Amino acid sequence: MIKSLASFVKLVNKNNVFLEQVRYASQALPQLSSEKYNIHRKDFGRIESSDVDYFRSVLGQDRVLTEESDVLPYNVDWIKNCRGQSKAVLKPKSTEEVSTILKYCNERKLAVCPQGGNTGLVGGSVPVFDEIVISFSLMNKIIDLDDLSGALVCEAGCVLENLDNYVRERGLIMPLDLGAKGTCHIGGNASTNAGGLRLLRYGNLHGSILGVEAVKADGTVIDCLRSLKKDNTGYHLKHLFIGSEGTLGLVTKVAIHCPVLPKSVNLGFFGVKNFENVLKLYKSAKSKLGEILSAFEMADFDSINFTAKNLKLPNPISDYPFYVLVETHGSEETHDGEKLTRFLTNEMESGLILDGTVTSEPAKMQTIWNLRESIAAAGLVGGYVFKYDVSIPLKNYYDLVPILKKRLGDKATKVFGYGHVGDGNIHINVTVPQYTKEVSSMLEPFIFEEVSKLNGSISAEHGIGFRKPKYIHYSKDQSALGLMKDLKQLMDPNGILNPYKVLPDHI
Ligand code: FAD
Ligand code: MLT
Ligand code: ZN
Repeated sequence: MIKSLASFVKLVNKNNVFLEQVRYASQALPQLSSEKYNIHRKDFGRIESSDVDYFRSVLGQDRVLTEESDVLPYNVDWIKNCRGQSKAVLKPKSTEEVSTILKYCNERKLAVCPQGGNTGLVGGSVPVFDEIVISFSLMNKIIDLDDLSGALVCEAGCVLENLDNYVRERGLIMPLDLGAKGTCHIGGNASTNAGGLRLLRYGNLHGSILGVEAVKADGTVIDCLRSLKKDNTGYHLKHLFIGSEGTLGLVTKVAIHCPVLPKSVNLGFFGVKNFENVLKLYKSAKSKLGEILSAFEMADFDSINFTAKNLKLPNPISDYPFYVLVETHGSEETHDGEKLTRFLTNEMESGLILDGTVTSEPAKMQTIWNLRESIAAAGLVGGYVFKYDVSIPLKNYYDLVPILKKRLGDKATKVFGYGHVGDGNIHINVTVPQYTKEVSSMLEPFIFEEVSKLNGSISAEHGIGFRKPKYIHYSKDQSALGLMKDLKQLMDPNGILNPYKVLPDHI
């Protein structure tokens, strides 16, 4: 058991400070998802020793894990909310192997759960019952980089940070960046349509991903792996796999457009009096920084204070009700510096910025980004966190935080809000000493009803996964859900791909 917990910790983290804290939190494994959420197993086949023999004949002995302690890390999600009961993990190394495995599983009606870096936040990446985990961790080859067009072609299991390091050496960057970059896979990013810290500037993955190769439930390989910017030949099938969370096919390769590495990068971290001023500052940043604005993030006092304290991270400025992080990516240091100075001078005079720091030194920028990116991890320390990632029109962006504080009273340790203002996406986290059904039912469906009243989306970037299918109707109408069901039926008639996820039972 100790060995398995240790390997779990190793799997989810690379930062030493954080590692110790998650080790502590992981002493208690979450309750089985099927019991916690009262789910009934669907009528799939059950894995037998003859199946394991078959998988071993395809993949070899070492790439089929069946020891309980080896399989455990693949059964538990990052926030320790969900726990599945898989008995086997398969680690293919090629598209052909994925295809062979899926064809067999489909014929035997064995359900599967595709898994990338297992950093997903909605329980989509881990099984619920005994679904076979298909891990992409060994499909991590970079296939091609065209440094003129910026098209990178790689296998689905490449870790985002490794790709970023690779393309940076060649004058490019990955078009997405997120706190989980050291662990998440590009195939997982594609399958969740991950947003992240610079979507404001580089757009979402439906735009950046040029092509995908994916395998359907019956083993058919769908080759849409084009690297062209423009390709209007019929239906845009790649979009079916982007954001479908492993329910329509397994992504095996990705072609993605990498923007040019910015020559000049600046980062500002500011204290702001109230949320109204955060919005005014955003408006000003858009107009004064224009094309060089690459991120506009906000965090309230509790987000930053809680993170700094729990993870012992430095906050470079003193306490303020709200914090704003403004980043610029440009090609001309002097020009960018002048623009930023003008923005800063104006907004310090206007009082929108109360205090702050601006830097272009990589180490200092890293300290600030680290504080922002660690908010997710801080929520795990010493308790349980209910996480929401909603889109709300900007004028109401922060409304739900005070509403939830009032509703929960002392039942919550903290309720805090932070997120990607530029994308209208707020993360609301509610921390509690431990998961209870009482708090859960005070939050859900209440929060989704409120989001829906505000014309928002119940998931801006993390997806629906296992945690939200029964709430999807708050953001998708019946006709859209009907079409989703038809597509699922067409592409995966036996329903073996990531069951219990995304689609609600009754449509
Ligand atoms: P997993 O967690 O392994 O899987 C996610 C989903 O995709 C599952 O449904 C899984 O079945 C499916 N899947 C994985 N690989 C494949 C494949 N090859 N083919 C088909 N289906 C597949 N998300 C954001 O959008 N923005 C953020 O800013 C952000 N920040 C985060 C910060 C932290 C610290 C953490 C822990 C998570 C964050 N996330 C964020 C959520 C998460 O990292 C992303 O959803 C990420 O894209 C998941 O990638 P992964 O490889 O870990 O996928
Ligand atoms: C973030 O923006 O930090 C991520 O989406 C993770 C989170 O919601 O905490
Ligand atoms: Zn986010």
